[in-house]
Amino acid sequence: MVERIGVVGYGYWGSKHVRVLSSLPGVVVSVIDANPDRLVEARRVHPAVRVEQELGAALPELDAVVVAAPPGAHSALSLRAIEAGVGVLVEKPLATTVADAELMVERAAQNGVCLMAGHTFEYNAAVWKLKEIVDSGELGRILYVDTARLDLGRYQSDCNVIWDLAPHDISIISYLLDEIPARTAVWAQGCVGRRYSDVAYLQMTFENSDVHAYTHVSWLDPRKVRRVTVVGERKMAVYNDLSDNERIRVYDIGVDVLESDDLHAMPVSYRTGDIVSPYVQFCEPLTVQDSHFVECLRTGRRPDTPGERGLDVVRVLAATDEAAVEPTVPVHRPMRTAS
Ligand SMILES: NC(=O)c1ccc[n+]([C@@H]2O[C@H](COP(=O)([O-])OP(=O)(O)OC[C@H]3O[C@@H](n4cnc5c(N)ncnc54)[C@H](O)[C@@H]3O)[C@@H](O)[C@H]2O)c1
Repeated sequence: MVERIGVVGYGYWGSKHVRVLSSLPGVVVSVIDANPDRLVEARRVHPAVRVEQELGAALPELDAVVVAAPPGAHSALSLRAIEAGVGVLVEKPLATTVADAELMVERAAQNGVCLMAGHTFEYNAAVWKLKEIVDSGELGRILYVDTARLDLGRYQSDCNVIWDLAPHDISIISYLLDEIPARTAVWAQGCVGRRYSDVAYLQMTFENSDVHAYTHVSWLDPRKVRRVTVVGERKMAVYNDLSDNERIRVYDIGVDVLESDDLHAMPVSYRTGDIVSPYVQFCEPLTVQDSHFVECLRTGRRPDTPGERGLDVVRVLAATDEAAVEPTVPVHRPMRTAS
């Protein structure tokens, strides 16, 4: 069975989709990009690929599309494809407003087409392993989760660093905890350009799990960091996406409260033990994700990350916009006394 899939947006990420999809059996790829220079580049790398500058011209020859244009264009492009009755895989974030994301989910259901969110990390074997560890109870009760996604990053022209990078962290943490956060607080700053924040810290509250998560995202950091730390009462686990062969490490360390009436006694005792790095059979997550999309198109199966899941993440992102304008609390200074 041949699937004709159009990748909309042949930029940094869309070019990876084209490479991956072109390698899948029975998939014929087209490229749609508004910038003719990008189409020339697509033809240079993939000489056989069909190219179009506008989605409408390509749609009659397509069974599905992957939307890898900038976030502000996601909903209009996706809705166009949905109305034409073809399946859509949309890069994160699904849309830039809750209303747009809701409309996409609604229209996909009405038209009976597959709508999938490109939450790549939910197709990542290291994240699956981390979830297996969390679910096994090995870490004990989860106390908190901390994530960092830092870099001298690719500044985006139509969204801030939270909408660009935090969808990954929101998707990973909510996947680990089987829950979407109920509340969020944000500290964000636009250091360069000032139009959009480029450095941000998020706090998310997961009410059912009784867990707080802390996420640091930045386009303005000297080091590349891609890290998720899950701190449990018994053990702690760290997922370092930049490690070649030790993506997951489980630390058998912890702190126990010491009950004592002795005011000079230590308040806690420390446990230290082995650091274990379980084997993770790794396959490129984008290949796993795009293969799953093709399988869903062929079988009618509901995607593991359906449009509704993308909508959940957009709801959290929209809440961060509201949280970012909350007033800060002034620090009270001591009264000056006359000398
Ligand atoms: N899942 C991941 O790990 C991951 C990683 C990076 C980027 N992304 C996502 O991929 C998407 C693209 O990001 P990028 O970094 O590749 O951006 P980019 O700017 O490098 O590329 C975007 C491309 O889309 C084209 N384009 C813009 N509007 C268009 C339209 N209306 N029709 C057709 N083409 C259009 C542009 O000409 C450009 O070539 C974003 O949604 C981003 O969040 C996901």
